[in-house]
Amino acid sequence: MTKIKATNITWHEGHVDRGEREKLLAQKGCLIWFTGLSGSGKSTVAYTLEHALVQRGHLAYVLDGDNIRHGLNKNLGFSAEDREENIRRIGEVGKLFVDTGVITLTAFISPYRKDRDANRALLQPGEFVEVFMDTPIDVCEERDPKGLYKKARAGEIKGFTGVDDPYEAPENPELVINAAELSPQEASTRILEFLESMDLLPELTD
Ligand code: ADX
Repeated sequence: MTKIKATNITWHEGHVDRGEREKLLAQKGCLIWFTGLSGSGKSTVAYTLEHALVQRGHLAYVLDGDNIRHGLNKNLGFSAEDREENIRRIGEVGKLFVDTGVITLTAFISPYRKDRDANRALLQPGEFVEVFMDTPIDVCEERDPKGLYKKARAGEIKGFTGVDDPYEAPENPELVINAAELSPQEASTRILEFLESMDLLPELTD
């Protein structure tokens, strides 16, 4: 666990609490954590779900691995340490987003179970919804939307997840989705139904 490095720092409580923000937004904050191999459909399903949530009147926002690595995490690569730090930061950013009341979706390979579990532990029970994109690697590789598997197999990329770098599947994810069996729309509907069943999407009142 990363320890606090700074000394002489004090926590400051604001005057507005999370409940007040959630009342303002008429929704509850939660973190929907997509994990799975590159090309498994994490980003596609996350953006489809974000769209569906916004159409239903909810404020939702996707934090996407490739995008975040262009900004906040541009100083990180793909070593085990850098992946850990990547996922730690997103857990913390996700926690802040949840505190604002936003339905937050993250799409990162997040290959290490302990890093995902550490992020789950940052939130209250029920607020962290782990969605395992269990798309078989041959399907991911066949799709190869960015041509990266091809490069990894040719030895042009070293340490590529699923090829010569590990991926630890979740043991108890809230949801398992195989993009070879469900369209992004169907996957998004399935997650919406789960959120409803967990009372994470309260009815909007005018
Ligand atoms: S994670 O492992 O640290 O969670 P993250 O989701 O942020 O990864 O980024 C993964 C994306 O980076 C992939 O979708 C792919 O486009 C790209 N990428 C580049 N190099 C690698 C690599 N060595 N392993 C996996 N993905 C890589």
